[in-house]
Amino acid sequence: MTAKLISGTEVARQIREELTGETARLKERCGVVPGLVTILVGKNPASMSYVAGKQKTAKEIGFHSVQENLPEETTEGELLALIERCNRDEKIHGILVQLPLPRQIDETKVLYAIDPKKDVDGFHPVNVGKMVIGQADYLPCTPAGIQQLLVRSGVKIDGAEVVVVGRSNIVGKPIANILLQKQPGANATVTICHTGTRDMALHTRRADILIVAAGRPNAVTADMVKPGAVVIDVGVNRIGTTPEGKAKLVGDVDFEAVRQKASFITPVPGGVGPMTITMLMANTLKAAQIAAGVR
Ligand code: GUN
Repeated sequence: MTAKLISGTEVARQIREELTGETARLKERCGVVPGLVTILVGKNPASMSYVAGKQKTAKEIGFHSVQENLPEETTEGELLALIERCNRDEKIHGILVQLPLPRQIDETKVLYAIDPKKDVDGFHPVNVGKMVIGQADYLPCTPAGIQQLLVRSGVKIDGAEVVVVGRSNIVGKPIANILLQKQPGANATVTICHTGTRDMALHTRRADILIVAAGRPNAVTADMVKPGAVVIDVGVNRIGTTPEGKAKLVGDVDFEAVRQKASFITPVPGGVGPMTITMLMANTLKAAQIAAGVR
């Protein structure tokens, strides 16, 4: 069996088209333009590229989009003051602080400082808590994107054995929580594997849906995958450069071998990546709709 590719690029394009229409309607009916601020501290190349992508997409959809670039040596106080200004700015509905932050800044303090109503990343503890009890306004973007990829590809999640590799706060823990809710597009039996798991393959081989966010190439090889499984590769590993001087990306899954065994698989790049940005836009539109009282 050769797996069908789940194209995040294509699903993201569809959702962005929907968002562009809804954004125009919100502007027409309520005179409200969704506003997104992206805050980047320092010059981490991966972060710069992510933030540029978020800004570009926001503009394409028709948002008011503001980029704040702060120097590497920015103090925690300066960043908190900027967040406070954005919390009060009525033109801004979504605030995104790109992670990771430089060492002198306490990430937890920063995430707590963002008004939960403008927390379109879904990282504020209030929003994390609402997600866990199944009452989320804003789901974190990468996990929300994974759920959309599965749903829009017709994968049956209800009753499925889902195995997640990785327990980060950004991907592993939230995707596990989202897919176990007693809700449409969820209701799975979920297992999380991590660096303390004794026999990872024992778990991954049982997965109908295997979600890999381990943070290293070849974390999942073909012998760890059940024939016919759906494999979602969340990894983004930069391994050298292409002849054109671009970063060469691979995921966390041994793609060529696993695609011979799986029924569906996401490529890297072009799988989960484009969905993360798209769901950030969906959250920002939702924040603007809530602020306008139409949602
Ligand atoms: N760094 C890596 N992924 C993310 C994300 O989804 N949001 C933010 N703010 N920073 C990130």
